[in-house]
Parts: sequence; structure tokens; C-alpha cells
Amino acid sequence: MFAGKTRKSLQVLVFFVYNMKITRKDILTKEAGPRITRIEILSPDIARKARPGQFIALMVNEKGERIPLTIVDATQTTITLIFQEAGLSTRLLGKLNVGDSLYSLVGPLGHATEIKNYGSVILVGGGVGIAEIYPVAKALKKAGNHVTTILGARTKELLILEKKLASVSDELHITTDDGSYGKKGFVTDVLKELLTHTPKTLGTYGPTALVYAVGPIPMMKRVAMVTKDSNVKTIVSLNAIMIDATGMCGCCRVSVDGKVKFSCIDGPEFDGHLVDWTELEKRTKVYTQQEKHICNLSK
Ligand code: FES
Repeated sequence: MFAGKTRKSLQVLVFFVYNMKITRKDILTKEAGPRITRIEILSPDIARKARPGQFIALMVNEKGERIPLTIVDATQTTITLIFQEAGLSTRLLGKLNVGDSLYSLVGPLGHATEIKNYGSVILVGGGVGIAEIYPVAKALKKAGNHVTTILGARTKELLILEKKLASVSDELHITTDDGSYGKKGFVTDVLKELLTHTPKTLGTYGPTALVYAVGPIPMMKRVAMVTKDSNVKTIVSLNAIMIDATGMCGCCRVSVDGKVKFSCIDGPEFDGHLVDWTELEKRTKVYTQQEKHICNLSK
């Protein structure tokens, strides 16, 4: 079953391997616990080809697993990646410093986001998913859309890229679970309000035509439930569970509209109203347990 998909994916994907050196590294969070880290990697070929919504897969060392990460930004020669050091592989990645090289890097992978003038769009980012909505927000703004962005984090210290998202948004809303910054509550509280009371400031842009959400699976599921009630097209990005990122391992399997899809080659973006969220949540929990087990073994 995977052979046909693999052939097709290999035809459309362009793989580049370069010297993969880290040229910049910043820690974006101040709180103790899994930190969120930004790195810039020298990779001119990927940088030139990258489109919003696409990702790379990297390996820190020969025996390490592949880590899929969204390309957050690109210059002529470098790509920017942002990740939370939550598991064994991302912790190893976080230990690399400027001047170190990755073991391997392939990309750009996945289908790019459909960027066009929708009129009015809402982008929702939760946790480290905030990094993944930045390139899409930037491109949608450039395409002439009225961009409203909602960012959610557990607490103020975990909120990232506020200024960058503000620079590409017409409106920016922030929520924190504990109320330490912005509005206390969840991104879906603000989303509900915005969808039921379209602000007058939208003017000729019209009602919201698209909601784009990236974040933890329960968050994206809730976003899709809210937008279904309002009948607003909703795109979610599902790149969290991947291993080979070439359509061979089956790990990123997701049911969409009753059909089996693979996030790495059919996605990572899907219609949020057609995703089987119950199945996806169950699968994610299995991998969470495995990741905990591996982390404990490595201590
Ligand atoms: Fe392996 Fe998609 S099939 S990550």
C-alpha cells in the first residue's frame, strides 16, 4: 500500500542535503520546564524552495529519530525552526549550539498552504503551534487578507512570537490559561466571540472565510467544533506524529472524511471538519506513553 504513495511522494518532493550548520540559537521561554528554542540552520536550497505550511525532517545523530518541524521563516540561505524540548530527540536537538551541524536534513516536505485573498481570516495558534501559524499569517497578510490572530499559552512565560505575529496581523488576541497575560481562558473562547460578533472594523473584507489552526490536538479539535457551528472553512496542520516523513512507516496515519491519509505526504494540512479527532487523540496517547518510556530509559 505504501509503495505507490512513496513513489508519488518521491516524485513531488525535492530532497536536499547541505552542510546543515546551526547559525543562530535563542531560547524563547523563561519558565522552568520544557523550553521552546529557535534555531537558524544554513540550508540555501531548502530556504529557496520553502513555502508556508511546509516542513523539514531532521536527525541530530546517526541513531536518532527523525524530527518533523515546520519551516517558520526563511532567508536566502537559512531556515528558522522552533521546537519545544519535550521529548528525547528534541532535547538532544536543544543541546546543539551555534556552529554544530545536524546529521541529516531533508525538505521542504508536505503540501504548501493555499495562499490567496479570502477576505477575512482568523489564525489560531496554541503553545509551540504559534510558531507554525507565523509563516501562514505573513503570507495571508501579503495576499491582502484582513488577518485576525488568536494566540494561546498556558502562562505568560510560555507565550512566543507575540511581536512577530502582531507585525503581520490586523488584530491580535491573546489568552492564557492562568490569566497571567491577555484574557484568562482559551483561544476558542475568543474565537467563538469573533465568529458570533463580526467586528465592524472588517469593513469590506466581509465575514470570516477561513480559520487556520495549529496547536495541541485537543485545541484543534475544539476549534473545529466551534467553526463547524458557524460553518466556516477550517484548516488544521497535523505534523506532530511522524517518523520517516516519506509515507512509508504509516505512523502519521489519520482518517479524513472516512479515508486513510498520511500527514507527511497528503498533508500536513487537512479540513478540520473532516478529521476523525477521536481516533487521532487515541493514537497520539499511545505515542505519548512510548515517548515517556524512551525518555526514562535515557536518564
Ligand atoms: Fe511515516 Fe508519514 S508515513 S511519517
